Amino acid sequence: MPGIFITFEGGEGAGKSTQIKRLAERLKKEGHEVLLTREPGGSPGAEAVRYVLLSGAAEPFGAKTEVMLFAAARLDHMRETILPALNRDAVVLCDRFYDSTRAYQGGGDGVSPDYLALMEEIAVGSHHPDLTIILDIDPKLGLERVKSRLKDSKKDSNDAQHIDRFEKDTLAIHKKRRAAFLAIAKREKDRCVIVDANQEAEGVSQVIWSIVNSHMAKEIKNKLRLKK
Ligand code: TYD
Repeated sequence: MPGIFITFEGGEGAGKSTQIKRLAERLKKEGHEVLLTREPGGSPGAEAVRYVLLSGAAEPFGAKTEVMLFAAARLDHMRETILPALNRDAVVLCDRFYDSTRAYQGGGDGVSPDYLALMEEIAVGSHHPDLTIILDIDPKLGLERVKSRLKDSKKDSNDAQHIDRFEKDTLAIHKKRRAAFLAIAKREKDRCVIVDANQEAEGVSQVIWSIVNSHMAKEIKNKLRLKK
């Protein structure tokens, strides 16, 4: 697959959105075509499913149904947005991907690994991220950040945000999700890198930049070798 596919993962309030935007700007300055996208969402069909999931409308049907909806959204997102961009040789930066399903619906809500693997296969087939950056944060601190972000947004009524279906879960569930992200990183060392997100944003950006730079240098070398 041409292009480079990088996903960002982590718990609530880890700062993914800020970091992904900073990385996109830096890569663009270096002359790369960058596609910044997110899950659930990232294509018109998947954005419609996003509303169903985050509003909590699907919660009464149970976590397995939610996994199906995440997978349906992901399939559409892959087909309509991610694969076309990779085929143009773009760098795709995706805010959450299948590790969020593994950590939230698997680690947090107890959906079995077999069921998750089946849905993953349906949604992504053989197209996996080249690199996954997991922003690791103490869930207590992460949830405090989310709360203060909500307070600030309420001061500006045009941008008022609400706590979503998954943010509202208990601290104990968020702790299980964190443990699940860390376990994924341990199992898939070639793809995943953990970054400590308890520090201030500038330090986190610098660490991410050096990880992405060295990953891209390795990818470019591999591609040149394959072309020979
Ligand atoms: P979002 O508003 O994008 O917030 P953030 O990524 O900043 O937390 O919310 C997406 C929510 O959906 C988030 O709480 C995590 C959850 N989620 C899952 O539970 N499973 C998934 O597979 C994905 C992609 C997201």
